[in-house]
Amino acid sequence: MEQNTYQSLPKLIATIPWGTHCCHFYKTQKDLLDMLVPYFRTGLLNNEFCVWVASKRLGVKDAVRGLKRALPKLDSYLNRGQIEIYPHAEWYLRDGDLDSQRLLTGWIDKCDQALARGYDGLRLTGDALWLEKTTWRNFVDYEAELDKTVNKSRIKAVCTYSLDKCQAAEVIDVVKNHGYTLIKRGEWELIENAQRRRAEEQAREKAMAELEKLVQARTTELRALAAYLQTVREEERTRIARELHDEIGQTLTAIKLSLETSEPEQADNVNAGVSQALGLVNELTGRVRDLSLELRPAMLDDLGLLAALNWHFDRYTHQVKIQVDFKHTGLEGRRFEPEVETAAYRIVQEALTNVARHAKVDRVEVNIWADEKMLCIRIRDQGDGFDRDSLSASATRGLSGMRERAITLGGRLKIESAPGTSTVLTAELPLRPRVAGEQ
Ligand SMILES: Nc1ncnc2c1ncn2[C@@H]1O[C@H](COP(=O)(O)OP(=O)(O)O)[C@@H](O)[C@H]1O
Ligand SMILES: [Mg+2]
Repeated sequence: MEQNTYQSLPKLIATIPWGTHCCHFYKTQKDLLDMLVPYFRTGLLNNEFCVWVASKRLGVKDAVRGLKRALPKLDSYLNRGQIEIYPHAEWYLRDGDLDSQRLLTGWIDKCDQALARGYDGLRLTGDALWLEKTTWRNFVDYEAELDKTVNKSRIKAVCTYSLDKCQAAEVIDVVKNHGYTLIKRGEWELIENAQRRRAEEQAREKAMAELEKLVQARTTELRALAAYLQTVREEERTRIARELHDEIGQTLTAIKLSLETSEPEQADNVNAGVSQALGLVNELTGRVRDLSLELRPAMLDDLGLLAALNWHFDRYTHQVKIQVDFKHTGLEGRRFEPEVETAAYRIVQEALTNVARHAKVDRVEVNIWADEKMLCIRIRDQGDGFDRDSLSASATRGLSGMRERAITLGGRLKIESAPGTSTVLTAELPLRPRVAGEQ
């Protein structure tokens, strides 16, 4: 046992936080009153619901008398039901037996009632002086359960034990099941159960270590993704520059040549030159349109997700010879937030690219459905499959990018696959509630 808190009792009692389960060992009735009277006075003055289960040594009448001396207005608290005082037999032994489940439920009910009636929580005490040796073990088990209940509730509990009844073994039983021990050794002290504290510290340290590991893994992943995005952007620029220079530039030069070589004096030449130039202009227009569509299909902005996807699937099938079985619900005639449409489009695009690059199949299923709250995408291929765990972070940038898009929108992305089986990618993108009048 360690960590002593030396304070005067009322201050100590006032600062006990919710979820504290204390034990207190006393010798005389006066000891008990000296502790319990300020304990309940503080509770009553602080808008707490109080339940005092009196003991053999300190009965209901003694409790009322003692408390009244410290709190002359006690009757008003009793009348409004902010404090209840029970004889021990009535509380603990309702049917003559110690039923720990009934007792625990009783405390939880009292706490719920307290909160429902606007009190800050439940402050309680109980005493074990009535216990016989035969019921001791049951009571120890009950205290262990009570400890767990108190820890997670708005309850403060002080369980009192007569030192006359406790040998060393019993003291250990009691202390083990309480987070704190309240004793008076000259000053009042609240002593924290060191074993408990160590266990809590260990749990906290473990949780912190796990969290740190997670943060590190995530940071590495994000760093890799950021570098990848940089590379992708450069590659994209290189590709556009090459396209502009080699294809479009070349065609423009050819147009210029056609126009220059057409001699204005010879009408035939002019016509041939102009019609060649026209052909080239048409070709050029097609290339510019393709390039622009590849970068970002305008129809995604103009016509929405469904139109853009249908267009993409046609092109995809044409280019890579993989049939897309597309089923959808809730997309027709509906627009989503632009960021959702972009994320959905890019996720489908990347997933289909993966199918074309890695799955070795000739068809793929795409299912998309949307309700008021969520847009869900499922893409399934019956291809080669893969083992996610065997891939390094740097080899899954496409997958990380898709996941990142989903997470950024508050959604998630799951990939189920194993070598030789199908691969299923599921993405869930949450939707903002639609405002009346919105499409
Ligand atoms: N549909 C799929 N079928 C089989 N393997 C896949 C599929 N999708 C992804 N993979 C595997 O996951 C790896 C990571 O995918 P991704 O992050 O998109 O990177 P990349 O496509 O650039 O290799 C791929 O290299 C491939 O081994
Ligand atoms: Mg990929």
